[in-house]
Amino acid sequence: MMTGTDTAWVAPANADQLKAWDTTEGVFWAEQAELFEHSLERYDDWLLRAAAIREGDRVLDVGCGTGSTTRAAAWLTGSGTALGVDLSSPMLAVAADRARDTGAGNATYLQADAQVHPFQSESFDVLLSRTGCTFFGDPVAAFTNLARATKPGGRLALLVWQPPSQNPWFTELTTALAAGRTLPTPPPEAPSPFALADPARVADILTTAGFATPECEALKEPMYWGPDVPTALHFTLGVLGWLLDDLDADARTRALTNLRRTLVAHYTWDDGVTFPSAAWLVTSRKLA
Ligand SMILES: C[S@@+](CC[C@H](N)C(=O)[O-])C[C@H]1O[C@@H](n2cnc3c(N)ncnc32)[C@H](O)[C@@H]1O
Repeated sequence: MMTGTDTAWVAPANADQLKAWDTTEGVFWAEQAELFEHSLERYDDWLLRAAAIREGDRVLDVGCGTGSTTRAAAWLTGSGTALGVDLSSPMLAVAADRARDTGAGNATYLQADAQVHPFQSESFDVLLSRTGCTFFGDPVAAFTNLARATKPGGRLALLVWQPPSQNPWFTELTTALAAGRTLPTPPPEAPSPFALADPARVADILTTAGFATPECEALKEPMYWGPDVPTALHFTLGVLGWLLDDLDADARTRALTNLRRTLVAHYTWDDGVTFPSAAWLVTSRKLA
């Protein structure tokens, strides 16, 4: 495995993502793999149905993380293969262990920058990604590289977030941790979970890259944040705890109180802590 300090194998525009995902952020995701995988589970059937994986297909899972969707693809393709690519060595180590433990022997994993990795041309029948395609420094270059790797007519199925305004898991939690501050809003097109939130931009990127005009289906599902409030608190601080960095002790206490209240408001005995969320299911085909 390569490390976050050796950046020679990633596009320069993705070096910061490598540092984040291969170190602190990736280590936390790897430790909390079960919860992260479960958190978006309600979207998995939508994504897998859209990918329409058939016996013998060769599937590429982009930004596969700890590999839940790669494993599912591997089971669905039977005699075919599922390759998960990701920047994060700690997350890929978990993915490989879980594939072995669950009998997904035809799932393999590769640490690579999907934007520039020299995949064999026209070698995949299906490209899928569960929120792993929104961090590219140059999305047109990345999807052009992915289109080159896909067979003509090959299927594309992506799950991407709708804008923050449609995602209370993000707005309510960041508002709680802001403790009264106005947080800077990054440009909507910067690499982030929300970089593909605008369907017009998605269509522009994909058609420039060599895919057919995509369909973007609006989905709304609850996002699971843990079985109880303490677990959800720990999970939130792992994902968004950097928002506390600049706060003095009083503001920090206020932020943590706000956070706890927000999580309690979303807790039920039956379902644990859940937040409303909204995503786009993006589907397309590689043009012949
Ligand atoms: C939000 S996580 C999603 C992980 C997984 N698909 C899931 O749903 O649990 C985004 C993933 O994309 C990966 N990623 C970001 N940029 C990438 C790139 N240029 N090439 C490959 N993977 C990338 C990250 O390392 C991270 O694991």
